[in-house]
Amino acid sequence: MRVTQLELTNFRNIASAVFEPCDGVNLIWGDNAQGKTNLLESIWLFTGCRSFRGAKDTECVGFGGAKAALSLDYFGEGRDQNLLLSIEKTRRFTKNGIKLTSPAKVMGSFLAVVFSPVHLSLIKDGPYERRKFLDAAISQLKPKYALALSGYNKALAQRNILLKDLMYHSELYDTLDVWEEQIAFYAAELMIQRIGYIHRLSTFATEIYGGISGKRETLEITYQEAGSTGGNTKEEIRQGMRDLLRAARKTDLVTGSTSVGPHRDDLLIKINDLSARSYGSQGQQRSAALALKLGEAAVIRSFTGEQPVALLDDVMSELDSFRQNYILNHISDWQVFITCCDPASVQNLQYGKAIRMKNGKII
Ligand SMILES: Nc1ncnc2c1ncn2[C@@H]1O[C@H](COP(=O)(O)OP(=O)(O)O)[C@@H](O)[C@H]1O
Ligand SMILES: [Mg+2]
Repeated sequence: MRVTQLELTNFRNIASAVFEPCDGVNLIWGDNAQGKTNLLESIWLFTGCRSFRGAKDTECVGFGGAKAALSLDYFGEGRDQNLLLSIEKTRRFTKNGIKLTSPAKVMGSFLAVVFSPVHLSLIKDGPYERRKFLDAAISQLKPKYALALSGYNKALAQRNILLKDLMYHSELYDTLDVWEEQIAFYAAELMIQRIGYIHRLSTFATEIYGGISGKRETLEITYQEAGSTGGNTKEEIRQGMRDLLRAARKTDLVTGSTSVGPHRDDLLIKINDLSARSYGSQGQQRSAALALKLGEAAVIRSFTGEQPVALLDDVMSELDSFRQNYILNHISDWQVFITCCDPASVQNLQYGKAIRMKNGKII
């Protein structure tokens, strides 16, 4: 997958721009607040996902204008294709000349992964961020996972309501069996998928991390259960989950919440055998987050046969010159867009294209 041409009209501070990237590394450089991240964001929006900045649709329209118009020529699924995106109050996509009835319909057409400083939360923050990453990544590859997740969340909410009700209605105690059976069913589905995904992801991410760190450091990613089911197969996990839920009843009745299950599980990320969250340096944490994101792209390629475009926003800061050089010159075979402020990076770029952004213009 690669972008062949991008055309923007009235998108944020970019009044009008046309840009033909190269197939390798495209380095978008310039001072702060010139529109570098805006340019990456515009490419990302063609995935059909919401902005990685958490922006509302209307915030993307240039101040004072009514509408933003974006056009992306890309090569994917073996041919040249085009997507148009117009943003007014809402987003509207047109694919190869045909209007799509909803933004969800564009999903899966143009594939990209994005790393931005907000993704450092993957390493630095609590387990919620890592579960969100896992759930989103797997749902994208396997729509059945999203259904199981929704079934799980509903059953979990019912158990939690019941735990609170039991204080006043002890006669309902046996109903716990019903919800726990459902939770165990969906939990086994979610966990088997998560473990399988992490297995694939870690193969790629550890290799990428090895490259970034010049083989001086190792990255390890494992699934960490809030309570051990002790199971390997789906049926074993399901049985283990039933037992865990039953054993947790006493404490769960006190708190009115469920203390075991995939909604409490985590992704343990270690660098040189130490928790990256607790002990990693800024540069190590950034490298680990980047390795996860590039690993995610590699998993997508192994599933779909298409290599997603990589969008890397402000990835270079806090990295030493070896790591910067690796990112600039050794991520081969795919199209990458990197933003940076430091003109020295342009000097260090061996192949690829440097694009300067100034005041919303590509110069
Ligand atoms: N909807 C908008 N219309 C016009 N300008 C905008 C809009 N949204 C953001 N901007 C401007 O874009 C600039 C930030 O661009 P950004 O791409 O984040 O900069 P950087 O080059 O540092 O990555 C800010 O000056 C901001 O005011
Ligand atoms: Mg920026």
